[in-house]
Amino acid sequence: MLDDKILNCFKKNEDSYISGEEMSRELGISRTAVWKHIENLREEGYGIEAFPHLGYKLISIPDRLTEAELGWRLKTDIIAKKIYSYKETASTNDAAHDLAMAGEKEGAIVIAESQTAGRGRMGREWASPKSKGAYFSVILRPDILPKEVPCITLFSALSVAKTIRDMLNLAAFIKWPNDVLIDNQKICGILTEMNAETDKINFVIIGIGININTKKEELPKDATSIMEASGKELSRVEVVRGIFKNMDKYYKLFNSGHISGIIKEYKEFSNFLGTRVRVTYHDTKIEGYAADVDEDGALILRMDSGLNERILAGDVSMLR
Ligand code: BTN
Repeated sequence: MLDDKILNCFKKNEDSYISGEEMSRELGISRTAVWKHIENLREEGYGIEAFPHLGYKLISIPDRLTEAELGWRLKTDIIAKKIYSYKETASTNDAAHDLAMAGEKEGAIVIAESQTAGRGRMGREWASPKSKGAYFSVILRPDILPKEVPCITLFSALSVAKTIRDMLNLAAFIKWPNDVLIDNQKICGILTEMNAETDKINFVIIGIGININTKKEELPKDATSIMEASGKELSRVEVVRGIFKNMDKYYKLFNSGHISGIIKEYKEFSNFLGTRVRVTYHDTKIEGYAADVDEDGALILRMDSGLNERILAGDVSMLR
């Protein structure tokens, strides 16, 4: 508890030093106690510099997906203003659902170091090995119709792919609707669930699973991780913070009606457009030419007959 309070003191004084005396006054503890807690934090992996006459400064944080780490220097307006972090949970989507039912505000995040029952789309499992990937869910309360929700999933995938490209310079692509791939292998999946009435959304849960420092043998055979693709271990905190910032940006654009700009950018990150694809939805398979993605996020498939089909859900495989 006190360790967290000390971290909060650092957060409030991000760019300056804070003396042991100031901290002891603010927290109502002795200077020796402050020093002991600073030692604890250093043992946990926090880089804390001490300068005579100036005081202490937090210069680096450990790679743990907690509120203190993820929220440090994070400047967003909606996303991640509140972060609930767990060492382990069954599924962050379930935990976020419960919080949303209890009235949690939009933008809140539930994140876990591991999930015991991580869920994927169409009833699949999502491998969630401990402290290797990032598994989190975002609660949103958009004032839209249920048919507009797919666009939220698309910009969430775009946020992940863009973070990976900008931060790591890796060629990340999106496969409709929301898989993020590197070298044609999946590194991120998104599961969107909603609570809605016919013409009103109560809340949407965007569940994002990213393989960051995961070894190939811990993943399904068609999946990889950012570490496997880049050859180096990464700061999960940096990756997740980057995604929060991008989601914040796209969600604000979405709320102000900039849908066509979002879809245009989404299409620039897509690897399936202009190819022949097979879309599988449970037992149904349909083949055609992936011609476009419309403003509702539907895939426009040009059939061999020359007619277009609007596809709203399914798994895409590229045929050639
Ligand atoms: C997919 O099938 O591609 C979607 C995978 C979504 C996995 C994430 S991990 C965080 C959140 N919690 C879950 O149980 N699933 C989503």
